[in-house]
Amino acid sequence: MKRYQQPAEPFRIKAVESIKLLSRHEREQRMAAAKYNLFRLDAEEIYIDLLTDSGTSAMSNRQWAALMLGDESYAGARSFRKFEKTIKDIFGKKYVIPCHQGRVAENLMFSTILKHGQYIPNNTHFDTTRGNCLHKGGVPIDLPCADSASVEALPFKGNMDTVALEGFIKEKGTENIAMVIVTITNNSAGGQPVSMSNIREVSEICKRHGLMFYFDCARFAENAYFIKRDEAGYGNKSIREISQEMFSYCDGVMMSAKKDGLANMGGFIALNDRDLYDRLAELLILIEGFPTYGGLAGRDMEVLAVGLEEVMEFDYQDYRIEQVAYLGHRLIDAGMPIIEPTGGHAIFVDAGRYLPHIPAEQFPGQGLSVEFYVEGGIRTVEIGSVMFGGVNPETGEKILAPKELVRMALPRRVYTNSHMDYIADVAQRITNRKDEIKGYHITREPQFLRHFMCELAVCEPEHARA
Ligand code: F0G
Repeated sequence: MKRYQQPAEPFRIKAVESIKLLSRHEREQRMAAAKYNLFRLDAEEIYIDLLTDSGTSAMSNRQWAALMLGDESYAGARSFRKFEKTIKDIFGKKYVIPCHQGRVAENLMFSTILKHGQYIPNNTHFDTTRGNCLHKGGVPIDLPCADSASVEALPFKGNMDTVALEGFIKEKGTENIAMVIVTITNNSAGGQPVSMSNIREVSEICKRHGLMFYFDCARFAENAYFIKRDEAGYGNKSIREISQEMFSYCDGVMMSAKKDGLANMGGFIALNDRDLYDRLAELLILIEGFPTYGGLAGRDMEVLAVGLEEVMEFDYQDYRIEQVAYLGHRLIDAGMPIIEPTGGHAIFVDAGRYLPHIPAEQFPGQGLSVEFYVEGGIRTVEIGSVMFGGVNPETGEKILAPKELVRMALPRRVYTNSHMDYIADVAQRITNRKDEIKGYHITREPQFLRHFMCELAVCEPEHARA
């Protein structure tokens, strides 16, 4: 069903930040100088930046006012108490470990609980969760539901496959599983939400087997909005009530508050287990800070205490999710296939389907990302074989990603719907000449996480598929 009737932005703008569209010639030059890697561009060279929704939110007037209330005391700051009280209310847990971003929460948790060789099943691990698990000697396992691979616009494609989870536990034995995580919304699977019934099932399975169940809940309020909108029995509940119910089923949460905290920095763990809290707090003191600030300034915690409340306002979420849907439908109209239904924080364009003349080895997602910049000054990110591909060190075989996607993540409260219209117009112009888009090859790459810093060049005919 097409939904074009998005509400107007439920805010007015009090401070503005100028953005500048360089000339096409300048954009071409900058792109070449950045070796066709959009991470290598300066933010000043970009007109609309859709690289990430993380740490890029606009703060409200209430958050800016809260900044001045920051208590910067080393121990027992008033700002921590506010932050803690807000988290206890929403997440229903007794203890709060502040940290400066989500990956630190993962590092703290996995350093503390993981034994070498233990598994951590997740609906789909986000890169840093996977990376931290591996780094601490664990084995990350993805168990997405079968619907997640479907091209149909089905609800709750972010769910975990609970039959597979049950089977996995029986096969490996509970002693070999450190914890079970559900990521809401499921970022790596298209920002798709997880239903309450799926959460309940995962929770029951974990309880039955005596396993710890945690959320990676960077986008919890977006997930709650989808439950309200699409799951029977939740239409009359508030986003707060739905969030509280979700968290009633888990032992604890790890949150990157740079997303649904509506702040530029922040993260935390919330949990009930006193013994685990003590162990986490010890490590926190070593690597982040005292347990009442953990790497955050007092003013950061003030801002988060307000942001975590604002993110649960219905009008805000309705605008947010509808803006993503609006952009998605306008891109479809401009001839770009996307992952459907549109999810919580981003549109994922299927560049593999859109540019069938570019083989996966020549990175169609990179080709499209470069075009978005050159055509309209828009920065997106390739999520395909530049990011996940490589060479198998044992066999020397090429590894390709399962899909060649381009992610357009929308910062919160930053761009208006006329920016969305501009993006769609750029997409249409790209479609009009899409057969001319070329593939790329990597000319220089670091050993790990090559997408951040690698250099690329256009595939001229001699690189074309033999
Ligand atoms: N978990 C999820 C689901 C995430 O999306 C992210 C970050 C993290 C954990 C790590 O949090 O960045 O605060 O350390 N996602 C960003 C993105 C970077 O662009 O999707 P962090």
